[in-house]
Amino acid sequence: MMSRFFLTGLLLFASLSTVFSQQFLVTPYIQPGDAHDLKHEQKVLVWQTDSVSGKFFVAFKKGKSIFDALHTLHQAKITKTKLELNGNVSWLYRAHFDHLDFDHDYAYTVKVEDRLMARGNFRTRTHHHETKFAVFGDCGTASPGQSAVAFQVYQKKPDFVLLTGDQVYTSGLEIEFRKRFFPQYAAAAASKTRGAPLMQSVPFYLTLGNHDVKGSNLREYPDGMAYFYYTDLPRNGPKVKSTPQVDGTKDQVEDYFKNTEGRFPGTANYSFRHGNVHVVSLDANNYVNPLDSALQKWIRKEFSHHKNEWRIVAYHHPGFNSSNAHYDYQQMRLLSPLLEELGVDLVLTGHVHNYQRSIPLKFIPEKDKSGDYRIQSSGRVNGEFILDQKFDGKTMTKPEGIIYVTTGAGGAQLYDAEISNKPEMWEHTPKTNWVPFTKTLISDKYSFTWVETHGHKLTLTQIDAEGAVLDQITVTR
Ligand SMILES: [Fe+2]
Repeated sequence: MMSRFFLTGLLLFASLSTVFSQQFLVTPYIQPGDAHDLKHEQKVLVWQTDSVSGKFFVAFKKGKSIFDALHTLHQAKITKTKLELNGNVSWLYRAHFDHLDFDHDYAYTVKVEDRLMARGNFRTRTHHHETKFAVFGDCGTASPGQSAVAFQVYQKKPDFVLLTGDQVYTSGLEIEFRKRFFPQYAAAAASKTRGAPLMQSVPFYLTLGNHDVKGSNLREYPDGMAYFYYTDLPRNGPKVKSTPQVDGTKDQVEDYFKNTEGRFPGTANYSFRHGNVHVVSLDANNYVNPLDSALQKWIRKEFSHHKNEWRIVAYHHPGFNSSNAHYDYQQMRLLSPLLEELGVDLVLTGHVHNYQRSIPLKFIPEKDKSGDYRIQSSGRVNGEFILDQKFDGKTMTKPEGIIYVTTGAGGAQLYDAEISNKPEMWEHTPKTNWVPFTKTLISDKYSFTWVETHGHKLTLTQIDAEGAVLDQITVTR
């Protein structure tokens, strides 16, 4: 018979090994790293643990299984950062998967000594002229809608996920990411109520929103601006005059720069190519000047090559929005003439918590006496609209102008549900500021945007949290 002492000892050992072994605060997830052109491919595996130290080993190899005898096993280089936020110590790790081949599956394992902590697979970007990806924003609230959308996205097996900003509510804090973002998108299993194991395999490209920078005063929010801790995005953005800022004690600010390791503030703007899509992700916060010459020059350079690709721009705050929420914030309209000139096909935004798709449009902003585009103190930008009424996305599929999509129904409380599918309620005045540019507005359902490209054809589908199709168009070139 097992003695009482033995049992007590066993329980003590079990509890001590839990106490003394390293625990994940965030389980390993894939980020794109600094891979933007179609010449070099890498991925970065990121995870966070509690304060207990431990030596991690991350192995990876080509193929679907780590036991695939055909391929060589590599050890990833691991870097780690100590975070001391709100009096809690934790460790943020990064394993670097460099010199990867395009169009291949890879498998990885994460171990501490001989203990298997996590395993996963991912696929590298493609050179083929086709992609499939999900887009949504305004998500991290731990709501049932957020998990249901994550579950539907997972069913579609995206190559990547593009988030249009406001990853977590309400202030972009480290603790908010840990409770309202990673549990839903890096869940242990797929479930409508809990989310899905997406981030273990699928790179998420994040766009900076207003809630992501809300915690920029580190005195008030010591774990604020966590966006730049957790993301590992391409570092090919321009050096613009107005960037996100952090404020705090000298030590806090120094630590923040050290712990974000060159990602802050440069990755507020970045671009990447995947197959035949070229995505430019921009910061659209109120400190940004869309007419910044370095920004405009960079966007122009980005879209000056590779004519056969789909040109997509993502930013958080929509310029063309027919909802009542955030109506006056229109500064990104100032970019429209440049994006039209460069042949941008699609602009993807969030911020307004619903789904809106515009008629393809061209916009000429009003100028002041000195010939510069004018932005009013209210935030509005007046101008002239040219709408392509012929485009229907079914039989007429070659748009004249840009299609603007707001896809901010990813999980945060929906806005203006009463105007859903009711065009008579979308009107704003005067005509120099609003014309009926919105084709579809669905504001009573959580949803995400699904984009597929096959050569010269792009299909955009809006899918709700139950998997039903809400809207669909085909665009051809
Ligand atoms: Fe927002």
